[in-house]
Amino acid sequence: MASTRTAVGKASVLVASNRGPVSYQVREDGSLDARRGGGGLVSGLSAIGPDADSVWVCAALGDGDRAAVRRADGGLLPAEETGGQRVRMLDIDASVHAEAYNGIANSVLWFVHHLLYQTPLEPVFDAEFRRQWASYQAYNQAFAEALAEEAGEGAAVLIQDYHLALAPRMLRRLRPDLRIGHFSHTPWAPPDYFRLLPDDIAAELLGGILGADRAGFLTRRWADAFTACCHRVLGPGIPSGTDIGVHGLGADGDFLRERAHRADVAERMAALREEIGEGRRTIVRVDRTELSKNIVRGLLAYEQLLTDHPEWRERVVHVAFAYPSRQDLAVYRDYTAEVQRVADRINERYGTPGWTPVVLHVKDDFARSLAAYRMADVALVNPIRDGMNLVAKEIPVVSDEGCALVLSREAGAHEELGEDAFTVNPYDITGTARALHEALTLPAEERAARSKRLAAAATALPPARWFLDQLQALTAQPS
Ligand code: F6P
Repeated sequence: MASTRTAVGKASVLVASNRGPVSYQVREDGSLDARRGGGGLVSGLSAIGPDADSVWVCAALGDGDRAAVRRADGGLLPAEETGGQRVRMLDIDASVHAEAYNGIANSVLWFVHHLLYQTPLEPVFDAEFRRQWASYQAYNQAFAEALAEEAGEGAAVLIQDYHLALAPRMLRRLRPDLRIGHFSHTPWAPPDYFRLLPDDIAAELLGGILGADRAGFLTRRWADAFTACCHRVLGPGIPSGTDIGVHGLGADGDFLRERAHRADVAERMAALREEIGEGRRTIVRVDRTELSKNIVRGLLAYEQLLTDHPEWRERVVHVAFAYPSRQDLAVYRDYTAEVQRVADRINERYGTPGWTPVVLHVKDDFARSLAAYRMADVALVNPIRDGMNLVAKEIPVVSDEGCALVLSREAGAHEELGEDAFTVNPYDITGTARALHEALTLPAEERAARSKRLAAAATALPPARWFLDQLQALTAQPS
């Protein structure tokens, strides 16, 4: 199908990602409500301007999205709903998408790159896995075909993330003329862990990405891990013909500072102040409830702090926002319940009539997140492993009085922020509790000075720059 339609494509820059810049909900009256998202790709594509003939190819994720694709007759979504962006959403068969996204991307690839398996019992790569893998291949093939159709001669195509690891090679076969980039927003697994995957699957994944002219990573560490996996799985000398690039995504300082001073954020601050109580210090964390974010151990470390340092009781509150993520997966639902259970236990154990030690919110509210950022004395970012972690970068930029950052050495952001952070091993509860105490006792002047340096490092590569640098590197490269 693709080969007959390649001539009609005319976009010169294409982005491909599972989740697109817009999502649709079906309202009660049957009409569609379009919601636009943010993030680095959205800023990046706006930065290249409307004349660049760019197209964003993404997947329909739910019923609302599928209805929107039908309404658009499989073509581009209405520009007024996408913020002017040309978006082609793919209505991939729902069961194929679910197997590729939930079955492979979220339950296998995410687990491999974040080292999340409890290995005595998992992973199990059986016939069911092979079936899901076939869906992952079909899903990647659907993206490759759509990109081949939309791309003009010699266009640059930026393919995102572990969902689409096979698409670069598939697209290369369909359109050898294109400049193809792949970017991993996650960490990359070390070779011993990556080799949990069946050998043929490991080789197919690496070979898929090596189909690109350029493979991009958020840090040198993840890029080196990818190269090490290539050497171990495919042999020495690989990768050849694929450039490896490192582009550390930063926070969008101008946007955050402006957005954090709007009226809705001030309202949320007043409400939070009520919940926290006057004059108390705050330890703030804001995450999607991913298993990799290590929220439960963060709570345990806070509990340890209250045990080891009774002087903090009544004087500090752990403000923890844990927003829903991937709730189709039972393991995520169980983890979310565990976060709630541990928070409740701490409140029962230590709470007093006038003091709630943990203020936990699970309903996503961006304005309230910014309010918490502004009020943060300490930011707790302790992932098991994380590609970058933008929260670690955003809180120092927005906090009113400057915050001390307790940061996992396993977050990509640690490469850039480590010097001014309190570094923790994410598994070490005692060490994290100690770091929280040190962060809370940091003199105000020192805290403000560190926070300023953190904010400067955090905003060094804003999203638009991050995107344009990649595009430039891809197109400057000789074919
Ligand atoms: O945060 C890392 C990341 O890979 C992002 O690049 C991507 O948008 C997200 O995870 C995927 O999350 P979801 O499954 O909610 O789309």
